[in-house]
Amino acid sequence: MPCSYVAVVDGEVYGSASLVDHDMPGPPEGTETLRPWLSGVYVTPERRKTGLGPALVRAVEEAARVLGHPCLYLYTGPVTAVKFYAPMGWAEILTTQYEGSNVVVMQKELRF
Ligand SMILES: CC(C)(COP(=O)(O)OP(=O)(O)OC[C@H]1O[C@@H](n2cnc3c(N)ncnc32)[C@H](O)[C@@H]1OP(=O)(O)O)[C@@H](O)C(=O)NCCC(=O)NCCS
Repeated sequence: MPCSYVAVVDGEVYGSASLVDHDMPGPPEGTETLRPWLSGVYVTPERRKTGLGPALVRAVEEAARVLGHPCLYLYTGPVTAVKFYAPMGWAEILTTQYEGSNVVVMQKELRF
């Protein structure tokens, strides 16, 4: 850690996601001791809705699990929390203001 996964299709890079110790410098109250975090999940617009996003998230979840972490954390916007992460088993644990925006902090329990 940190480590990143990159989605490559036919030699072209279309997305990435990372595992980091903590993703919120100057962390909001209640998140200071949480670790590690899923960070920087991104898929280029032309390749969205083809399964790359969930594949990248699963790769980082597996990396955290193999490293022995019982939980993984992330922060995101309220819509992405509901539409993208909740269907993959992520649970909201906190809503807060961060860098001027409403954000949702989420947790995924990693099964051993
Ligand atoms: C979020 C992201 C990685 C999803 O990647 P993807 O490969 O398109 O993932 P999926 O195809 O599985 O999409 C899953 C669903 O989430 C929805 N979704 C994801 N982000 C959404 C958002 N911000 N608003 C509304 N719906 C969203 C997709 O529309 C899709 O819905 P559907 O299954 O009903 O069609 C991609 O949209 C992206 O890179 N967005 C910009 C960066 C970002 O928001 N990253 C997450 C920050 S933590």
